[in-house]
Amino acid sequence: MVEISPKDLYEKAKEASLSAYAPYSGFRVGAALLLDEGTVFTGCNVENASFGLTLCAERSAIAGAISSLGGKIKIRTIACAESEGRVFTPCGACRQIIREFGDAETGVVFFSDRGLVCLNLEELLPFGFSIS
Ligand code: THU
Repeated sequence: MVEISPKDLYEKAKEASLSAYAPYSGFRVGAALLLDEGTVFTGCNVENASFGLTLCAERSAIAGAISSLGGKIKIRTIACAESEGRVFTPCGACRQIIREFGDAETGVVFFSDRGLVCLNLEELLPFGFSIS
């Protein structure tokens, strides 16, 4: 089993942000996710001239993992980072998509005004939507 600290996962996300295609916002984001089975996948944001079509980094990383391993993946931890280490938290839409492939205990790592934090999904998305 690969052991990787929240800080190391954040650094991988930051490295992935360097591949971002963000000519419109200039806000380059990377995400790195650690699966339960120990594999790490990364992704970056991909913008479009039709702004609403933009793909966030978190969703790009999740799509990459599913493309390789199928839809049964389970996210243990996901980190997101802006290329220059600016403060930001994952958008609401990405929180819901992380939930689809995680659970209440899934860790979300990001750089906040309190420094690097790792919160669980239950804290970031209370009462998230699911069909039960
Ligand atoms: N962005 C992400 O990649 N992830 C988020 O959680 C929030 C926002 C991207 C989308 C857009 O390309 C840029 O950041 C500015 O909104």
